[in-house]
Amino acid sequence: MEKKFEHFDTVDFNFDKNALRIIDQTLLPTKINMLELDDEKSIWDAIHLLKVRGAPAIGVAAAIGIAILSKKIKTEDIDEYKSEFNRIKNYLETSRPTAVNLFWALDRMKVVVDGYGGDNPLELNELLMAEAAEIREEDIKVCKSIGENGLKLLKDGMGILTHCNAGSLATVKYGTATAPMYLAHEAGMKIKVFADETRPLLQGARLTAYELNAAGIDTTLICDNMSQTVMRQGKVDIIFVGCDRVAVNGDACNKIGTSMVALAAKRHNIPFYICAPTSTIDFSIESGEEIVIEERKPEEITEMWYEQRMAPEGINVYNPAFDVTDADLITGIITEYGIIYPPFKEGILKLKEENNL
Ligand code: MRU
Repeated sequence: MEKKFEHFDTVDFNFDKNALRIIDQTLLPTKINMLELDDEKSIWDAIHLLKVRGAPAIGVAAAIGIAILSKKIKTEDIDEYKSEFNRIKNYLETSRPTAVNLFWALDRMKVVVDGYGGDNPLELNELLMAEAAEIREEDIKVCKSIGENGLKLLKDGMGILTHCNAGSLATVKYGTATAPMYLAHEAGMKIKVFADETRPLLQGARLTAYELNAAGIDTTLICDNMSQTVMRQGKVDIIFVGCDRVAVNGDACNKIGTSMVALAAKRHNIPFYICAPTSTIDFSIESGEEIVIEERKPEEITEMWYEQRMAPEGINVYNPAFDVTDADLITGIITEYGIIYPPFKEGILKLKEENNL
Protein backbone atom coordinates (compact mmCIF):
# COMPACT_ATOMS: atom_id res chain seq x y z
CA MET A 1 0.00 0.00 0.00
CA GLU A 2 1.23 3.51 -0.79
CA LYS A 3 2.62 5.19 2.31
CA LYS A 4 0.35 8.15 3.06
CA PHE A 5 0.47 10.34 6.12
CA GLU A 6 -3.25 9.96 6.74
CA HIS A 7 -2.64 6.30 7.48
CA PHE A 8 -0.71 7.27 10.60
CA ASP A 9 -1.54 9.24 13.69
CA THR A 10 0.88 12.14 14.11
CA VAL A 11 1.99 11.01 17.57
CA ASP A 12 1.69 7.52 19.00
CA PHE A 13 3.27 4.82 21.16
CA ASN A 14 5.18 1.89 19.78
CA PHE A 15 4.50 -0.43 22.69
CA ASP A 16 6.62 -3.29 21.31
CA LYS A 17 9.72 -1.12 21.15
CA ASN A 18 8.76 1.06 24.12
CA ALA A 19 9.21 4.08 21.87
CA LEU A 20 7.54 7.34 20.89
CA ARG A 21 6.40 7.11 17.27
CA ILE A 22 6.08 10.30 15.21
CA ILE A 23 6.01 11.42 11.59
CA ASP A 24 9.13 13.46 10.89
CA GLN A 25 7.46 16.73 9.91
CA THR A 26 10.70 18.35 8.79
CA LEU A 27 10.71 16.04 5.76
CA LEU A 28 7.13 16.68 4.66
CA PRO A 29 5.71 16.99 2.08
CA THR A 30 8.33 15.21 0.00
CA LYS A 31 9.11 12.30 2.29
CA ILE A 32 7.02 10.33 4.78
CA ASN A 33 9.33 8.97 7.41
CA MET A 34 8.20 7.55 10.73
CA LEU A 35 10.58 7.90 13.67
CA GLU A 36 10.73 5.60 16.67
CA LEU A 37 12.37 7.52 19.51
CA ASP A 38 13.40 5.84 22.73
CA ASP A 39 16.06 8.01 24.36
CA GLU A 40 15.74 11.40 26.01
CA LYS A 41 18.10 13.30 23.70
CA SER A 42 16.29 12.21 20.54
CA ILE A 43 12.88 13.06 22.06
CA TRP A 44 14.16 16.49 23.17
CA ASP A 45 15.64 17.05 19.70
CA ALA A 46 12.43 15.96 17.96
CA ILE A 47 10.51 18.68 19.82
CA HIS A 48 13.24 21.31 19.57
CA LEU A 49 13.83 20.75 15.85
CA LEU A 50 10.08 20.60 15.04
CA LYS A 51 10.10 16.98 13.90
CA VAL A 52 6.99 16.96 16.04
CA ARG A 53 5.38 20.39 16.36
CA GLY A 54 2.10 22.16 16.94
CA ALA A 55 1.07 22.81 20.53
CA PRO A 56 -1.20 19.79 21.16
CA ALA A 57 1.14 17.35 19.37
CA ILE A 58 4.09 18.62 21.42
CA GLY A 59 2.10 17.98 24.62
CA VAL A 60 1.13 14.45 23.60
CA ALA A 61 4.70 13.67 22.47
CA ALA A 62 6.08 14.87 25.80
CA ALA A 63 3.57 12.76 27.74
CA ILE A 64 4.33 9.60 25.77
CA GLY A 65 8.02 10.47 25.82
CA ILE A 66 8.25 10.76 29.59
CA ALA A 67 6.17 7.60 30.08
CA ILE A 68 8.43 5.45 27.90
CA LEU A 69 11.61 7.05 29.29
CA SER A 70 10.41 6.40 32.84
CA LYS A 71 9.91 2.76 31.95
CA LYS A 72 13.66 2.53 31.43
CA ILE A 73 14.57 3.90 34.85
CA LYS A 74 16.58 1.14 36.51
CA THR A 75 15.79 1.22 40.18
CA GLU A 76 13.57 -0.54 42.66
CA ASP A 77 13.64 2.46 44.96
CA ILE A 78 10.53 4.59 44.52
CA ASP A 79 12.19 7.82 45.69
CA GLU A 80 15.02 7.37 43.22
CA TYR A 81 12.47 6.62 40.50
CA LYS A 82 10.51 9.79 41.29
CA SER A 83 13.60 11.96 41.35
CA GLU A 84 14.75 10.57 37.99
CA PHE A 85 11.25 11.27 36.60
CA ASN A 86 11.58 14.88 37.77
CA ARG A 87 15.00 15.21 36.14
CA ILE A 88 13.61 14.00 32.78
CA LYS A 89 10.61 16.32 33.15
CA ASN A 90 12.84 19.35 33.76
CA TYR A 91 14.96 18.40 30.76
CA LEU A 92 12.04 17.95 28.34
CA GLU A 93 10.59 21.28 29.51
CA THR A 94 13.62 23.06 28.03
CA SER A 95 12.91 21.80 24.49
CA ARG A 96 10.61 24.71 23.49
CA PRO A 97 9.34 27.64 25.57
CA THR A 98 6.09 28.93 24.08
CA ALA A 99 3.44 26.24 23.64
CA VAL A 100 1.91 25.77 27.08
CA ASN A 101 0.72 22.26 26.17
CA LEU A 102 4.27 20.96 26.73
CA PHE A 103 4.20 22.10 30.37
CA TRP A 104 0.54 21.20 30.80
CA ALA A 105 1.12 17.60 29.70
CA LEU A 106 4.29 17.13 31.77
CA ASP A 107 2.60 18.66 34.83
CA ARG A 108 -0.30 16.24 34.37
CA MET A 109 2.17 13.35 34.32
CA LYS A 110 3.78 14.70 37.49
CA VAL A 111 0.44 14.75 39.27
CA VAL A 112 0.38 10.95 38.76
CA VAL A 113 3.87 10.62 40.23
CA ASP A 114 3.17 12.89 43.20
CA GLY A 115 -0.12 11.17 43.91
CA TYR A 116 1.37 7.69 43.98
CA GLY A 117 1.67 6.48 47.56
CA GLY A 118 3.00 2.98 46.82
CA ASP A 119 6.57 1.74 46.64
CA ASN A 120 6.62 -0.10 43.31
CA PRO A 121 8.22 1.72 40.33
CA LEU A 122 6.73 -0.82 37.91
CA GLU A 123 3.24 -0.10 39.16
CA LEU A 124 3.82 3.66 38.95
CA ASN A 125 5.09 3.26 35.42
CA GLU A 126 1.89 1.47 34.42
CA LEU A 127 -0.02 4.50 35.71
CA LEU A 128 2.20 6.86 33.70
CA MET A 129 1.71 4.86 30.51
CA ALA A 130 -2.05 4.93 31.10
CA GLU A 131 -2.05 8.69 31.71
CA ALA A 132 -0.09 9.36 28.51
CA ALA A 133 -2.51 7.15 26.57
CA GLU A 134 -5.39 9.10 28.11
CA ILE A 135 -3.84 12.46 27.14
CA ARG A 136 -3.48 11.15 23.59
CA GLU A 137 -7.07 9.87 23.39
CA GLU A 138 -8.42 13.09 24.88
CA ASP A 139 -6.61 15.10 22.20
CA ILE A 140 -8.52 13.26 19.48
CA LYS A 141 -11.88 13.84 21.18
CA VAL A 142 -11.12 17.46 21.99
CA CYS A 143 -10.14 18.29 18.40
CA LYS A 144 -13.31 16.64 17.12
CA SER A 145 -15.39 18.78 19.50
CA ILE A 146 -13.55 21.94 18.40
CA GLY A 147 -14.43 20.90 14.85
CA GLU A 148 -18.12 20.49 15.72
CA ASN A 149 -18.22 23.86 17.48
CA GLY A 150 -16.43 25.60 14.61
CA LEU A 151 -18.59 23.92 11.99
CA LYS A 152 -21.62 25.87 13.27
CA LEU A 153 -19.94 29.04 11.93
CA LEU A 154 -19.50 27.70 8.41
CA LYS A 155 -21.83 27.89 5.42
CA ASP A 156 -21.66 26.41 1.97
CA GLY A 157 -19.35 28.36 -0.35
CA MET A 158 -17.34 30.12 2.35
CA GLY A 159 -13.73 31.19 1.97
CA ILE A 160 -11.60 30.39 5.02
CA LEU A 161 -8.10 31.65 5.70
CA THR A 162 -5.64 29.96 8.04
CA HIS A 163 -2.06 30.58 9.13
CA CYS A 164 0.70 28.10 9.97
CA ASN A 165 -0.41 24.52 10.55
CA ALA A 166 -3.03 23.92 13.20
CA GLY A 167 -3.95 20.79 11.32
CA SER A 168 -4.01 17.10 11.98
CA LEU A 169 -0.21 17.20 11.88
CA ALA A 170 -0.22 19.58 14.85
CA THR A 171 -2.40 17.28 16.95
CA VAL A 172 -2.99 13.53 17.04
CA LYS A 173 -5.81 13.81 14.47
CA TYR A 174 -8.19 16.42 12.93
CA GLY A 175 -6.25 19.48 14.07
CA THR A 176 -7.82 22.48 15.76
CA ALA A 177 -8.22 25.19 13.10
CA THR A 178 -8.64 22.53 10.42
CA ALA A 179 -11.13 20.40 12.34
CA PRO A 180 -14.17 22.48 11.23
CA MET A 181 -12.82 22.33 7.66
CA TYR A 182 -12.54 18.54 7.70
CA LEU A 183 -16.04 18.21 9.15
CA ALA A 184 -17.49 20.68 6.62
CA HIS A 185 -15.85 18.77 3.80
CA GLU A 186 -17.15 15.48 5.17
CA ALA A 187 -20.66 16.98 5.27
CA GLY A 188 -20.37 17.82 1.57
CA MET A 189 -20.08 21.59 2.06
CA LYS A 190 -18.08 23.48 -0.53
CA ILE A 191 -15.39 25.50 1.21
CA LYS A 192 -12.33 27.24 -0.20
CA VAL A 193 -9.30 27.46 2.07
CA PHE A 194 -6.47 29.96 1.76
CA ALA A 195 -3.32 28.69 3.48
CA ASP A 196 -0.66 31.24 4.37
CA GLU A 197 2.74 29.84 3.53
CA THR A 198 4.04 30.94 6.97
CA ARG A 199 7.61 32.12 6.79
CA PRO A 200 10.17 31.18 7.84
CA LEU A 201 9.50 27.48 8.46
CA LEU A 202 6.72 27.15 5.87
CA GLN A 203 4.32 25.10 7.96
CA GLY A 204 1.45 26.47 5.83
CA ALA A 205 3.02 25.37 2.55
CA ARG A 206 4.65 22.15 3.67
CA LEU A 207 1.98 20.91 6.07
CA THR A 208 -1.41 22.68 5.84
CA ALA A 209 -1.52 22.81 2.04
CA TYR A 210 -0.32 19.22 1.99
CA GLU A 211 -2.81 17.73 4.40
CA LEU A 212 -5.87 19.69 3.19
CA ASN A 213 -5.03 18.93 -0.41
CA ALA A 214 -4.59 15.25 0.40
CA ALA A 215 -8.05 15.31 1.98
CA GLY A 216 -9.53 16.74 -1.24
CA ILE A 217 -10.32 20.16 0.24
CA ASP A 218 -10.12 23.08 -2.22
CA THR A 219 -6.94 24.77 -0.98
CA THR A 220 -5.00 27.74 -2.32
CA LEU A 221 -1.52 28.52 -1.07
CA ILE A 222 -0.56 32.18 -0.67
CA CYS A 223 2.51 33.95 0.68
CA ASP A 224 2.05 35.60 4.06
CA ASN A 225 2.13 39.07 2.51
CA MET A 226 -0.88 38.23 0.30
CA SER A 227 -3.47 37.57 2.99
CA GLN A 228 -4.61 41.21 3.15
CA THR A 229 -5.10 41.16 -0.60
CA VAL A 230 -7.37 38.12 -0.62
CA MET A 231 -9.33 39.65 2.25
CA ARG A 232 -9.71 42.91 0.35
CA GLN A 233 -10.84 41.00 -2.72
CA GLY A 234 -13.71 39.53 -0.70
CA LYS A 235 -12.43 35.98 -0.92
CA VAL A 236 -12.27 35.38 2.83
CA ASP A 237 -15.41 35.06 4.96
CA ILE A 238 -13.86 33.73 8.15
CA ILE A 239 -10.45 33.06 9.66
CA PHE A 240 -9.53 30.06 11.81
CA VAL A 241 -6.07 29.83 13.37
CA GLY A 242 -4.57 27.68 16.10
CA CYS A 243 -2.83 28.83 19.21
CA ASP A 244 0.14 28.03 21.47
CA ARG A 245 -0.97 29.85 24.60
CA VAL A 246 -4.04 31.86 25.55
CA ALA A 247 -3.85 34.27 28.48
CA VAL A 248 -6.74 34.83 30.88
CA ASN A 249 -7.57 38.18 29.20
CA GLY A 250 -7.94 36.39 25.82
CA ASP A 251 -4.61 37.48 24.28
CA ALA A 252 -3.55 34.58 22.07
CA CYS A 253 -0.02 33.64 21.10
CA ASN A 254 0.40 31.78 17.82
CA LYS A 255 2.86 31.42 14.95
CA ILE A 256 4.58 34.63 13.90
CA GLY A 257 2.40 36.57 11.48
CA THR A 258 -0.91 35.63 13.07
CA SER A 259 -1.38 39.07 14.61
CA MET A 260 -0.94 40.71 11.19
CA VAL A 261 -3.70 38.49 9.82
CA ALA A 262 -5.92 39.56 12.74
CA LEU A 263 -5.19 43.25 12.13
CA ALA A 264 -6.08 42.94 8.45
CA ALA A 265 -9.22 40.97 9.33
CA LYS A 266 -10.35 43.76 11.66
CA ARG A 267 -9.94 46.30 8.82
CA HIS A 268 -12.12 44.15 6.55
CA ASN A 269 -14.68 43.12 9.20
CA ILE A 270 -13.84 39.45 8.78
CA PRO A 271 -14.47 37.29 11.87
CA PHE A 272 -11.20 36.03 13.33
CA TYR A 273 -11.38 32.90 15.50
CA ILE A 274 -8.73 31.23 17.64
CA CYS A 275 -9.19 27.44 17.81
CA ALA A 276 -7.72 26.15 21.03
CA PRO A 277 -8.24 23.21 23.36
CA THR A 278 -8.47 24.26 27.00
CA SER A 279 -5.02 22.66 27.48
CA THR A 280 -3.74 25.70 25.55
CA ILE A 281 -5.19 28.19 28.04
CA ASP A 282 -2.62 29.30 30.59
CA PHE A 283 -4.75 30.20 33.60
CA SER A 284 -1.64 31.43 35.43
CA ILE A 285 -1.06 34.45 33.19
CA GLU A 286 -3.17 37.58 32.94
CA SER A 287 -2.07 38.78 29.52
CA GLY A 288 0.05 37.94 26.48
CA GLU A 289 2.83 40.18 27.85
CA GLU A 290 3.85 37.30 30.12
CA ILE A 291 4.40 34.77 27.34
CA VAL A 292 7.98 33.77 26.51
CA ILE A 293 8.40 34.02 22.74
CA GLU A 294 10.78 31.50 21.24
CA GLU A 295 13.58 32.98 19.15
CA ARG A 296 15.10 30.75 16.50
CA LYS A 297 18.30 30.68 14.53
CA PRO A 298 18.99 33.22 11.73
CA GLU A 299 19.66 30.49 9.12
CA GLU A 300 15.92 29.76 8.97
CA ILE A 301 15.55 33.16 7.28
CA THR A 302 18.81 33.63 5.43
CA GLU A 303 19.51 30.28 3.81
CA MET A 304 17.55 27.28 5.00
CA TRP A 305 15.16 27.02 2.04
CA TYR A 306 17.37 28.40 -0.71
CA GLU A 307 19.87 26.79 -3.04
CA GLN A 308 22.22 29.58 -2.13
CA ARG A 309 22.33 32.07 0.70
CA MET A 310 19.83 34.91 0.16
CA ALA A 311 21.13 37.50 2.59
CA PRO A 312 24.54 39.05 3.11
CA GLU A 313 26.94 37.25 5.45
CA GLY A 314 26.95 38.82 8.88
CA ILE A 315 23.56 40.56 8.53
CA ASN A 316 21.64 41.05 11.77
CA VAL A 317 18.61 38.76 11.86
CA TYR A 318 15.70 38.75 14.29
CA ASN A 319 13.63 35.56 14.19
CA PRO A 320 10.83 35.43 16.78
CA ALA A 321 8.76 32.30 16.17
CA PHE A 322 5.46 33.50 17.66
CA ASP A 323 3.47 36.67 18.19
CA VAL A 324 0.63 37.74 20.41
CA THR A 325 -2.73 38.72 18.95
CA ASP A 326 -4.45 41.19 21.25
CA ALA A 327 -7.76 40.00 22.59
CA ASP A 328 -9.64 42.92 21.05
CA LEU A 329 -8.80 41.62 17.56
CA ILE A 330 -10.30 38.20 18.31
CA THR A 331 -13.94 37.46 17.53
CA GLY A 332 -14.09 34.25 19.54
CA ILE A 333 -12.09 31.37 20.97
CA ILE A 334 -13.36 27.98 19.88
CA THR A 335 -12.71 25.34 22.55
CA GLU A 336 -13.92 21.79 23.03
CA TYR A 337 -16.61 23.12 25.38
CA GLY A 338 -17.97 25.77 23.04
CA ILE A 339 -17.08 29.23 21.76
CA ILE A 340 -15.96 31.91 24.18
CA TYR A 341 -16.90 35.45 23.13
CA PRO A 342 -15.79 38.74 24.72
CA PRO A 343 -15.45 39.70 27.46
CA PHE A 344 -12.88 36.88 27.38
CA LYS A 345 -11.72 37.05 30.97
CA GLU A 346 -15.22 36.43 32.23
CA GLY A 347 -15.77 33.60 29.73
CA ILE A 348 -12.42 31.94 30.38
CA LEU A 349 -12.81 31.99 34.16
CA LYS A 350 -16.39 30.70 33.89
CA LEU A 351 -15.18 27.84 31.66
CA LYS A 352 -12.46 27.02 34.19
CA GLU A 353 -14.91 26.91 37.07
CA GLU A 354 -17.64 24.98 35.27
CA ASN A 355 -15.27 22.29 34.01
CA ASN A 356 -12.89 22.04 36.95
CA LEU A 357 -9.86 22.99 34.85
O1 MRU B 1 6.43 26.29 15.55
P1 MRU B 1 5.24 25.40 15.39
O2 MRU B 1 5.14 24.79 14.04
O3 MRU B 1 5.15 24.38 16.50
O4 MRU B 1 4.02 26.39 15.57
C1 MRU B 1 2.73 25.87 15.51
C2 MRU B 1 1.66 26.87 15.60
O5 MRU B 1 1.89 28.04 15.76
C3 MRU B 1 0.25 26.33 15.61
O6 MRU B 1 -0.63 27.22 15.01
C4 MRU B 1 -0.18 26.10 17.06
O7 MRU B 1 0.76 25.31 17.73
C5 MRU B 1 -1.51 25.47 17.15
S1 MRU B 1 -1.49 23.80 16.63
C6 MRU B 1 -3.05 23.17 16.77
